[in-house]
Amino acid sequence: MRMTVRERVLCSLVAGLCGLGFSNLGVKQSGVLAKEGDAVTGREIYVNTCMLCHGIDGRGVRGLQFVPPPADLTSLAVQSRLDGSLFRRIHDGKPNTVMGAWKHALSDEEIWDVLAYVRTFRIESPGQP
Ligand code: HEC
Repeated sequence: MRMTVRERVLCSLVAGLCGLGFSNLGVKQSGVLAKEGDAVTGREIYVNTCMLCHGIDGRGVRGLQFVPPPADLTSLAVQSRLDGSLFRRIHDGKPNTVMGAWKHALSDEEIWDVLAYVRTFRIESPGQP
């Protein structure tokens, strides 16, 4: 036997992680970290699940009666938050608002994707406080 037990454990761990990564990545470029998310896939998810409230430009749909109204995703208040914090928010929802927990509908991978798309709103926020 050429490999030690430790080496074999490490090997299968790495192979397992890669396999998992690739199966989740689907058609995406391999080598992209799951955490980076794919804004193109994210856009599709956004249009289907978030646009209803947050609007096509992320600034929120006018005329909704929700209290509080959907967050302005272009705002500094949202864009200055760390990825992990926004991920949690999308994953678990925001208590006492209509912002639901998307963990039931979306995989972690899909949440990173939609977050990557939400990040594209950042550049369209000149003149924010
Ligand atoms: C039913 C309406 C609705 C839908 C659908 C919705 N949101 Fe929200 N969202 C809200 C509301 C309401 C808030 C809270 C605003 C506030 O607290 O001022 C919010 C807040 C947020 C925030 C800011 C969180 C924070 O802590 O301030 C982010 C980011 C966000 N939504 C992303 C998303 C994404 C991504 C989706 C789609 C997966 C989505 N939302 C779907 C209504 C919605």
